[in-house]
Formats: sequence, structure tokens, C-alpha cells
Amino acid sequence: MSNWTATATATEQAEIPVVPSARINSARVLVVGDVMLDRYWFGDVNRISPEAPVPVVRVNKKEDRLGGAANVARNAAALGAQAGLLCVVGHDEPGERIVELLGKSKVAAHLGRDPDLPTTIKLRVLSRQQQLLRVDFEDAPNHEVLLTCLQRFTELLPQHDVILMSDYAKGGLTHVMQMIAEAKRAGKPVLVDPKGDDWDRYRGATLTTPNRAELREVVGQWKSEEDLHERVRKLREELELSALLLTRSEEGMTLFTETQVVHTSAEAREVYDVSGAGDTVIATVATMLGAGVPLVDSIVYANRAAGIVVGKLGTATVDYNELFA
Ligand SMILES: Nc1ncnc2c1ncn2[C@@H]1O[C@H](COP(=O)(O)OP(=O)(O)OP(=O)(O)O)[C@@H](O)[C@H]1O
Ligand SMILES: [Mg+2]
Repeated sequence: MSNWTATATATEQAEIPVVPSARINSARVLVVGDVMLDRYWFGDVNRISPEAPVPVVRVNKKEDRLGGAANVARNAAALGAQAGLLCVVGHDEPGERIVELLGKSKVAAHLGRDPDLPTTIKLRVLSRQQQLLRVDFEDAPNHEVLLTCLQRFTELLPQHDVILMSDYAKGGLTHVMQMIAEAKRAGKPVLVDPKGDDWDRYRGATLTTPNRAELREVVGQWKSEEDLHERVRKLREELELSALLLTRSEEGMTLFTETQVVHTSAEAREVYDVSGAGDTVIATVATMLGAGVPLVDSIVYANRAAGIVVGKLGTATVDYNELFA
């Protein structure tokens, strides 16, 4: 047995100390992972197609939003951090759109280009607030471009304080093991938003931030809170993870470290859209760590930011003034 002890503390709408904006602005966060474009086409349906029994949508509005790792980087930049993004896109229109939106979001883009890769895009066709169809384009980037990204990672590492891996299982993190090892050798904290059941790839990470379903996939269904603590302790020790932050939607979040278990209740007043809340959580923790805030305190800010973001429509961001209002 380790010296692990359980202490559960609930933080309710607590007054949280302001972190000076100058400190936040000095935080340099490098996001690595799978980038995607969330595209929305809105229109009216007035007839059924003569070609097949399907509705015909006359498109009258289009909207594009950054998704995946790009949304995480955008969240860090919105808080005021210096955010860099290392990932692969194709040589296509959605790839160009991502570059344009990253520029508007003040994210420094370090993009590998794979000419044969369709940039990951999720296209939704909607009419009267109802989704009629979703069309996905995606593929794994090629080996050469992934190796170039690994080299670029080595170059970018010294210029950043915190490394954040945003895994959406699209192949962008093929070399995540080497990246974590390099970052650790350089003494930089590595945060991972995980995907899938192979967590061996994240061995040695400073913090992983699964949601309930993602954790269940690796440790199985827990029967009680004590059972959960025990399963997480085993997982942490086995994979040498310093800490694990379980995000629990309306139940808030629980941080597990070697010495403590800290629970923070959800803060949302009104919930409109929970998509992207996990992105906001990890981006906020990374920004706070980069600003020199201890991990245990960082989650209080992350919980506050998540509570704000679920009150907004679409994958949204929280800025410095909203967080400390
Ligand atoms: N319904 C809700 N009510 C209040 N707070 C919520 C709700 N859903 C999410 N949150 C806040 O957002 C945090 C992250 O949410 P969640 O655990 O759903 O992450 P996630 O599944 O990774 O999200 P996503 O993948 O959609 O970005 C929670 O820990 C909580 O603080
Ligand atoms: Mg998530």
C-alpha cells in the first residue's frame, strides 16, 4: 500500500482568488492532437426529393467552428494563455478554414500538411433546429508527416511550460509515448484528454482527464465511491500517472492524486449545451499550471470555467474576465 489517503472536500460556489492576468498571459501551453472542423449547414425543407425518399434542404446559413484539439487550444487562448497547436491537416478547403479560424482565435498554428489526408470534418445538416444528417470525413495521417510532427514537437518543447495531449483517436497522437517521455525528461507537465482503452500509451503522464464513460472503458464499472477510489489508485500506480481528474458532468469533478481525493461540485446555474465542456476543463487546468497555480487549485478554476461554458450555446470558450467576474 502507498501512503494514499482519501479526503473528500466539496467546494461550493467558493470565492476563488484572482490569478493576475500577467501570470496567465505568461503561461505557454502546447496542445498536440487531433484537430477537426465542426461545420453546420442550416436550411428549409419544402419538398421530398424526386430522386429518393429524402428531404431536400435549401441551405441558407453556414457556420464553422474549431473542434477537437483546436477547440482546446482556442479555450486556452481565450483565457489569455499563449497557446500553440501541433497537429496534422490536409491540403484542402477545411484545412484552410481551420488555419483561418486559429488565426482569429490567436492560436499559434504548427500544422503538418498531408496532401492525401482529408481534414477531419463533421458536417451537420439542420432544419428547424433538427439535425437531419451528419457527414464525417476523416482518415489517419501518413507516417512521414507524423514523424515530421514528432521532430517539430522536440523543437517546440523548450518554448512551452505545459504540454496538453488532446486525443480524439484520429491518429494524430501516434507518437504520444515518445512525446510524453521527452516532455518528462524536459521537466514539463503533460496533461492528457484520453480516448479508447489503451492507456499504456499515456504512461507517465502528469494528469489524465477522462469523463465517466472513458474511465469505465479502462477500469470497468465501479460499484461505489470507495470502489472507484481503489480502481483509480491501481490505474494510477500501474501507469505511473501522477494524477487523474474524473469529469462527472452534472456531478462535477474529482481529482485523484497520490495523497488526496478532492471532489468539486458542478457550478452551472443553467445548462444549455454541454458539448466541449471537457475541452474547457483541460485547457483551464493547463493554463493555470502554466501560470504557476498548484494542481489542486487549478481544478477549482476549471470547474468554474466548465460551469460557465455549459451555459453557452455551441462549443464555446470562457475569457479571463468571465472566469474572475
Ligand atoms: N449538466 C451539467 N451540469 C453542470 N455542469 C456540467 C454539466 N455537464 C458538464 N458540466 C461541467 O463540465 C465538466 C466536464 O463535463 P463532462 O464530464 O461531461 O466532460 P466531457 O464528457 O469530456 O465533455 P465533452 O467531451 O462533451 O467536452 C464537468 O466536470 C462539470 O464541471
Ligand atoms: Mg471529453
